[in-house]
Amino acid sequence: MRDQAWKLRSLLAESPTRLNGGGRVLAVTSGKGGVGKTNVSVGLALSAARSGLSTVLIDGDLGLANIDVILDIHSEKNLGHLVEGEAQLREILVTGPEGIRILPGASGLTQVADMGHTRQQRLLDAMGELVHSHELVIIDTGAGISRSVIDLCQAAGEVLVVTTPEPTAVVDAYAMLKVFSCDVPTPKCWLTVNQAQSRGEAQQVASRITALANKFLSLEVENAGSVLFDPRVSASVRKRQHFTRAYPTSPASRSIREVAATMGVQKVQESRGGFLNRLKEVFVGDIGGAR
Ligand SMILES: Nc1ncnc2c1ncn2[C@@H]1O[C@H](COP(=O)(O)OP(=O)(O)OP(=O)(O)O)[C@@H](O)[C@H]1O
Ligand SMILES: [Mg+2]
Repeated sequence: MRDQAWKLRSLLAESPTRLNGGGRVLAVTSGKGGVGKTNVSVGLALSAARSGLSTVLIDGDLGLANIDVILDIHSEKNLGHLVEGEAQLREILVTGPEGIRILPGASGLTQVADMGHTRQQRLLDAMGELVHSHELVIIDTGAGISRSVIDLCQAAGEVLVVTTPEPTAVVDAYAMLKVFSCDVPTPKCWLTVNQAQSRGEAQQVASRITALANKFLSLEVENAGSVLFDPRVSASVRKRQHFTRAYPTSPASRSIREVAATMGVQKVQESRGGFLNRLKEVFVGDIGGAR
C-alpha cells in the first residue's frame, strides 16, 4: 500500500501544485458514506470551471461510481475500460456543464493496490496526463478508510473531508483525519460540514473537529466552510442536474460558491482597472488625492 501511494504521489507531484502553475489536485473524501461528497465535488468543479479554470473531475469512487448519474452524462467507456487497456484516455473523457472534463468511473473496480502492475500503470499514466493538462483536478473518492481511498488522497496531496453534523459522520471524519495525520508528508486537510441546518451548527461541528485534530493528532485542518441542508439538492439529483445549475440562487448553491472561494479553487481575475488602480496606489499614493 505504501509503495503504491508513493508511486501515485510522486507521479502527481511532478507537476506544480499551485493554481497559477496548473495541476492542483484535490481529493474529496469522507469517513461515512452518503454525506454529500459527489454533490460537493461536482459543485466545486462547476464553480471552478465557471471562473475560468480548466477543470477535470475524476470519478474515483471505484466501488460505486455515480457522477454520470448526477450530471446525466452518458459515456460508452469508463475508467474500467481504461484500466483494462480497452480504451484510451481521450476516448473516455466527456465534456460536462461549464466545459468541465469528466473521467467517468467504473463500478466494482478492485482496490488500486490489488490491480496488478500493468493496470496500475495505466491508471497512473491517465492521471498524470490529466494533472499536466488541467489547472484543477478534483477526485471524488468513495467513502471510508479503504486502501484505494487513502492512496488517492495521499497521491492528491490535498484533501477535502466532508462530514454532516451527525455524530456518526463526525466520528468517521475524525478517524479519516487520523489516518492522514500518520502519513508523511501529511496531505493538506480541509473540512466542510454539509447538510447543516444553520451556519451556527456547522461552525460548532467544524470547530470541534479542527480543535480535536489539532490537539490530539497535531494536524492542521482548515475549515472550508459549510453547505446548508437544502431539499433542492435531492430534487436536483432526481432531475439529474446539479443543484448549482438547477437552483443557482438557493442557499446550498451560495454556500458551495463560498467554499470554492475559501479554498481558492477559482481563477483570480486580474482586471485591468484593478491592476492600474493598484499601480496608481503604489506610485501616487491615495488615488482620490492624485486626481
Ligand atoms: N446540502 C444538502 N442538502 C440536502 N441533501 C443533500 C445535501 N448534500 C447531499 N444531499 C443528499 O445526500 C445524498 C448523498 O449525496 P452524495 O451522493 O453527494 O453523497 P456521497 O458522500 O457522494 O455518497 P457516497 O458515499 O454513496 O458516494 C443525496 O441523496 C443528496 O441528495
Ligand atoms: Mg459519491
